[in-house]
Amino acid sequence: MSSKRKGIILAGGLGTRLHPLTKFTSKQLLPVYDKPMIFYSLSVLLLAGIRDVVLITSPHSLAQFKELLGDGSDWGIKLNYVEQAKPNGIAEALILSEDHIKGKPCALILGDNIFYGNGLTPFLNKADERQQGATVFSYRVSDPGSYGVVKIDENGKALSIEEKPENPQSNLAVTGLYFYDEQVLDIAKNIQPSARGELEITAVNRQYLKQDQLFVTPLQRGFAWFDAGTIDDLMAASEFVCQIEKRQGQKICCPEEICLLREWITNDQLEALLKKQQGSEYNRYLYDLIAERRSVAIESQ
Ligand code: G1P
Repeated sequence: MSSKRKGIILAGGLGTRLHPLTKFTSKQLLPVYDKPMIFYSLSVLLLAGIRDVVLITSPHSLAQFKELLGDGSDWGIKLNYVEQAKPNGIAEALILSEDHIKGKPCALILGDNIFYGNGLTPFLNKADERQQGATVFSYRVSDPGSYGVVKIDENGKALSIEEKPENPQSNLAVTGLYFYDEQVLDIAKNIQPSARGELEITAVNRQYLKQDQLFVTPLQRGFAWFDAGTIDDLMAASEFVCQIEKRQGQKICCPEEICLLREWITNDQLEALLKKQQGSEYNRYLYDLIAERRSVAIESQ
């Protein structure tokens, strides 16, 4: 099943907190265990059934992203690229995507966010099916003041949303994944820069809250969410992915696998791709997956 929603990945920023790692490359191209960080956010959009994605990045990193991902046709998806000249805030990603999202609903994800947990896809589908308003995903953290913070009542209704508050009203961080209806472009165009000079995504979400149209999906116990913006978070995310993948023999957020399972590409198409770059454990995993699918197909004949 494919979604009609447009996807946006924001992979901008200077990655200052990760220098010198990010001196020559973008943060979102750094490895999280066995794959580039950007694969994780892209995979979330693909899991939501979104196949038409705009990637927003700095002029400096654009060519590298294109080299890695191309136009998406290898994976049966569509990728477009837009430059963000300066990191002017997350909400600017919506304005920069105007040509792609005008009059359409969209889902925006930050390229350094990593989501993992059983039941994620049904949550994504539910957010995708919502025709009106905005859906955000909350996650309980021990340091809410480092994030957008949402407060909800006992029925899950949003009561307040604030960006990096000094006195957080709850310990629910707002993760970097947002589903919006078509009015988001107008909302984003009308917000003012914050004290730190950025167009804050929280200001956009606050407009939806004012309209009583901000829906919060809590990612409960058992979910993992990482914002891999610091070296310790990057290390923790890599360690987490490594442990789960080794234990289960299944990859987390492998875009080729998702596109194959959704039948956006065929076994043959993926096999042809893999032949171009042999040798890695990642590729062997995909070869095995193809072999498994072929044997199941034969057995069911
Ligand atoms: C941004 C958002 C914040 C959100 C976080 C999630 O913060 O402004 O609301 O909770 O992403 O990763 P930043 O990482 O840009 O400081």
